[in-house]
Amino acid sequence: MIKKAVIPAAGLGTRFLPATKAQPKEMLPIIDTPTIQYVVQEAVDSGIDDILIISGKGKRAIEDHFDRNYELEAALEKKNEQALNEIKNISDLAKIHYIRQKELNGLGDAIYHAKHHVGNEPFAVLLGDTVVRSVIPATQQLIDIYEQYKQIVIGVEEVPKEKVHRYGIVGGEKINDSLYQLNEMIEKPSIDEAPSNLAVASRYILTPDIFKALEETKVGKNDEIQLTDALKIFLSRGSVYSYTFEGKRYDIGDKLDYLKTTVEFGLKRKEFKKDFLEFLKEIIKESEER
Ligand code: UTP
Repeated sequence: MIKKAVIPAAGLGTRFLPATKAQPKEMLPIIDTPTIQYVVQEAVDSGIDDILIISGKGKRAIEDHFDRNYELEAALEKKNEQALNEIKNISDLAKIHYIRQKELNGLGDAIYHAKHHVGNEPFAVLLGDTVVRSVIPATQQLIDIYEQYKQIVIGVEEVPKEKVHRYGIVGGEKINDSLYQLNEMIEKPSIDEAPSNLAVASRYILTPDIFKALEETKVGKNDEIQLTDALKIFLSRGSVYSYTFEGKRYDIGDKLDYLKTTVEFGLKRKEFKKDFLEFLKEIIKESEER
């Protein structure tokens, strides 16, 4: 049973400046809900009740968001019961713990900070700046594979061949259309080097073995400890599976992706759909006429 999740959320978010100069990118709202709340909700919907958020400098808003806010609650008590329940529920979602990554030494280093908290159990990792919309929560889908194989599982998605150079790409033996046993992982390969078009997609099930591999991992790209490098070390001594989960991934740390996400989620909201669609049609027409 996987009961713990780690959500790395300490990164600087340089791709989203200036918005991220003084606020965490994980708090950027999709309509009215901060990105990291969707991520926490996915973990909770996948049966996880203990969440460790890897936090850092300038990330206090995340802690405040999942805490109680008595002043706000008192104000809402008199005038808006629905909003009151909504904000109270946020602080009851799960047991959320925090640890600060003092130096930003990369995703691998961020995950290493979870060593004592997770102890001897397998755990899920969900990147705090990435939302997945799916029928079954993406993390739940990976947990189901973990329960079958009891080995590390990496969530992947298919990307167009001409875009493989932007991602971590995996390669291995096909077990079925969605499942591979890996023998290769390459960070940002050229089209010719890429063993597949399956890209690492921000959701993982890791076992505590990863910590030993992380200890052996040397500083890599961008002078950071890369999770991919640790997984490669682990691959030489253990099994790693990749699973193409059903669902659509939204990388909020990328400005264009964020814009698209807001539009897509806006169109899915009942209370906005009609007016928003009409507005979009109008502005598309206007921009085509110009
Ligand atoms: P990114 O690769 O998006 O890096 O991290 P970043 O630094 O946050 O953002 P950019 O590229 O400068 O815009 C992926 C995830 O890993 C976390 C981030 O918070 C994000 O959720 N992360 C990254 C850490 O927690 N610590 C790190 O040292 C690096």
